[in-house]
Amino acid sequence: MAIIDGKEIARQIKTEIAAEVTTILDSGKEVPHLAAVLVGDNPASHTYVGGKEKACLEVGIISSVYKLSESVSEKELLEVIDYLNLDDHVDGFIVQLPLPKQIDEKKMISHINPAKDVDGFHPENFGRMALNLPAYIPATPFGILQLIERYKIETSGKNCVVLGRSHIVGSPMSILLSRKTYPGDATVTLCHSRTPNLKEITLNADILIVAMGQPEFITKDMVKKGSVVIDVGIHRIPSESSKSGFKLIGDVKFDEVSRNASYITPVPGGVGPMTIVALLMNTLKAYKKEIYF
Ligand code: GUN
Repeated sequence: MAIIDGKEIARQIKTEIAAEVTTILDSGKEVPHLAAVLVGDNPASHTYVGGKEKACLEVGIISSVYKLSESVSEKELLEVIDYLNLDDHVDGFIVQLPLPKQIDEKKMISHINPAKDVDGFHPENFGRMALNLPAYIPATPFGILQLIERYKIETSGKNCVVLGRSHIVGSPMSILLSRKTYPGDATVTLCHSRTPNLKEITLNADILIVAMGQPEFITKDMVKKGSVVIDVGIHRIPSESSKSGFKLIGDVKFDEVSRNASYITPVPGGVGPMTIVALLMNTLKAYKKEIYF
């Protein structure tokens, strides 16, 4: 069994991005700029956006955050999106989700200029992705593809099972792995809360991607020997053995499942660090106008 070291791969990619930004800076050009719109006081959202700012700082990408109150109206948020769509100094931006109840998320996402939609959430980018056309790929699936590529994991002809159908992870992941390319060319099964006989399906997986949001749901008896297990879950639970009084666990029962897997991502240190790095990669693509010319 080998552990997929997302922390190390993320470090390598950040070094590559930092070198590219240094070259840009040395040539006297403006450096890439990623903006984030943060609405309200959701602690998880503040943590994510803080992590993005820190990562930008590490690689030399300019980062800015537009903080709006929980009571913001759709009209006001649309105005901020318009402003960022038009600001030539901003290469890409994200609107951190979830948004407050009074705001229609789909309407906001659809208002982002697809060329600046580095989250890859706009229908234009999602459609392009499905058609294997140049597109921004959502950060978590993009990060997982990077792990598969950098560990040279074979995907062609493999049975890949994705658990969870969110628009951010499960759904794009299932599309990406069925595309006619590498990583891809897999036979993909997408499972969700209404799927019966889950264990029967997961036992058939050569590659199992778990993004269902249930702590340690996947146990050893659900995993085929020699399979690749990618754990997208992250849960903070109380722990007496750690100094901070809590620890992070995934959707997979790591200690026992790792005995069956050929490759497995740990939590923390697996998929998590890759998500932010994938967003930085998309920001660089936006700066270089690789997707929209
Ligand atoms: N909320 C949870 N994950 C994400 C993400 O990747 N992007 C945005 N915009 N919001 C999120």
